[in-house]
Amino acid sequence: MPRTLCLIASGLSACAVPPNPPVSREIVWIDAQTEALARRACYDCHSNETEWQAIHRLPLLNSIVEGDVARGRCHMNFSAWDGPNEEAAEAVEVLLDGEMPLPSYTLAHPRARLDDEEIVQLIEGIEATFATDPPLPGEACGDD
Ligand code: HEC
Repeated sequence: MPRTLCLIASGLSACAVPPNPPVSREIVWIDAQTEALARRACYDCHSNETEWQAIHRLPLLNSIVEGDVARGRCHMNFSAWDGPNEEAAEAVEVLLDGEMPLPSYTLAHPRARLDDEEIVQLIEGIEATFATDPPLPGEACGDD
């Protein structure tokens, strides 16, 4: 249901979360450890395997989370590795700067937090993964 309709119709409790699009081509991770870290810290916004929760149906949170997931996916989508993903090249930088995973997300998902050792492991794993299965040029986001 469109968001405004959902707001009017449901008051405070029943916005639908969007269905996950199908996985068109999964990135081939270099090893299980890297995949596990990426799944834990990045997949909710950078894959088509988002784990939606009941709380995401609350209207305000619903728009925030849907927006983060939509923008996250268009910047880099590990489930659509057959499409444009050139911004993935910035993954190491955003990890070094502590920009990703988004702080608003780790606040609500403490499990997704990475300690220093895990950040180094994920950086090395991503570099090795991109060397064997590189992101394609082009980007899927409109002007945001
Ligand atoms: C809560 C959702 C969320 C999670 C979790 C998340 N991201 Fe992001 N990511 C975003 C959004 C939203 C953007 C777009 C940022 C913007 O519009 O400036 C983004 C952008 C990016 C970009 C593109 C470069 C840039 O700065 O715009 C990279 C690379 C990236 N994320 C890497 C990661 C990595 C690596 C992880 C896991 C360690 C991760 N992200 C976890 C939401 C998320």
